[in-house]
Amino acid sequence: MRENKNILPNINDARLRNRPVKIIYKDVQVPSSLLNFPYPKTFYIKTYGCQANYRDEETIAGLLCYAGFKRVDNIQTASIIFFNTCAVRENAEQKLFGHLGELKAIKQKDKNKIICVSGCMMQERESLQFLVDTYKYVSIIFGTHNIASILDLLDEYLSTKKMLIRVPSNSDEVVENLPSYRSSLFKAFVNITYGCNKFCTYCVVPYTRGQERSRLMEDILKECRFLKENDYQEITLLGQNVNAYGKDLKDGSNFAKLLEEVAKMNFPRIKFLTSYPSEFDDDLIDVIAKYDNISKYIHLPVQSGSNVILQAMGRRYSKEAYLDLVKRMRAKIPNLRLSTDIIVGFPNESEEDFLETLDLVQKADFASAFTFIYSKRKDTPAAKIVDKVSYETKVERFKRLVKLLEQHISAYDAKAMNQLHHVLVESVSEKDPTMLSGYDEDNKLIHFKGDTNLIGKIVKVKIKESHMYSLIGELIDE
Ligand code: SAH
Ligand code: SF4
Ligand code: F3S
Repeated sequence: MRENKNILPNINDARLRNRPVKIIYKDVQVPSSLLNFPYPKTFYIKTYGCQANYRDEETIAGLLCYAGFKRVDNIQTASIIFFNTCAVRENAEQKLFGHLGELKAIKQKDKNKIICVSGCMMQERESLQFLVDTYKYVSIIFGTHNIASILDLLDEYLSTKKMLIRVPSNSDEVVENLPSYRSSLFKAFVNITYGCNKFCTYCVVPYTRGQERSRLMEDILKECRFLKENDYQEITLLGQNVNAYGKDLKDGSNFAKLLEEVAKMNFPRIKFLTSYPSEFDDDLIDVIAKYDNISKYIHLPVQSGSNVILQAMGRRYSKEAYLDLVKRMRAKIPNLRLSTDIIVGFPNESEEDFLETLDLVQKADFASAFTFIYSKRKDTPAAKIVDKVSYETKVERFKRLVKLLEQHISAYDAKAMNQLHHVLVESVSEKDPTMLSGYDEDNKLIHFKGDTNLIGKIVKVKIKESHMYSLIGELIDE
């Protein structure tokens, strides 16, 4: 029997930065315990959180499929169960605990089930400890930095049958050549950077995802080329701050250059997430304006319109600088549609601060927005601030913000009436099986009647009705 050496997260390691990045071209080996796995070779994965976590899910699934396992949608029929967690706000954590409780009965019925919990929440020591104390039937806990080792972790668990905890807190590695099980045959996420160095004072991501590290441009382009050969219609370049792409490589690569190279590959639709306002430079604006296949729907989180709060958040721009950037973008990209993230109720945000946010929303004219009430995250600098504002006040402000945003969204929808939108058809509508659903170039959910053989294609749809968070249209035959 091997010695069970658990690795627990450590906040000091999580803070480390500026180590040289190692690129590892991994030669994945399947351990014999998995080749000869004695139970049905099935696995189930449930992911919470952002696109980075969904992309990680595709890697976990890719590794399991490489080892001969089959993904199943029914948790009861899976021999290995994965929960890939998020920690960005408290409610993301609550959802997980509900699901983990349900697993107790499954494990009691079949003690050979292997239950794995991974992702950002496991990078936090207290959450991890709570999980270990409360859900003793969990088999493997791993983090965001050792996904590439999941087959070896399973092998180790099969030999010890003891709970394994392997959560290194940071990484200076970029691991290439991992197999992927992509969730879509026509739209794909492509990582360009991992981690984040911004340390906004409210945010856990720099601690849960570690040091910012860029993939080499040639490796990203190789992955894109493969997706193009496989007829992918839409790709989204992913990073917590895509504008920082290349800065750590010191080989002259940057995001504008990378985006231009990807645009030249002629994907019908290219998106990127997430942009950081003060690093969004003019070269990037020019590339976006130059290529029709680069989406003009851009997510540019502002978080707040108050300079006092922006500074307390550690965001490195002012309200005026943000609005000036929006103006420069609109001048060169006339059909720009902006989306944003806003946090309401950062500690001690005053009514005056909040009015600045409403004013910014008015001026920036967002086509869509994700709004959140501030959630206190342990170990972040903002968690130490003594907050004098009541939760009721925050909720009341949140409602006012949503109301104003909805006015802007309605105005946007009114302009869309009778216009032709290009929709990448994804599926049959969940609510109405006679309708198809997909997203247009503005990331708006569109429903329309059509044949299922259109799934995976980009079609023209004339917009006829608006329902705030979705639109209904008619297919236009060419
Ligand atoms: N890297 C991206 C996304 C980070 S997480 C970016 O910087 O935009 C996505 C969003 O969650 C953030 O933009 C922010 O609006 C929100 N968020 C992050 N931490 C939060 C917290 N502690 N409370 C409430 N919202 C938070
Ligand atoms: Fe969090 Fe800020 Fe990094 Fe975004 S840029 S992930 S909000 S620390
Ligand atoms: Fe959540 Fe981690 Fe993403 S905290 S939002 S899954 S980076």
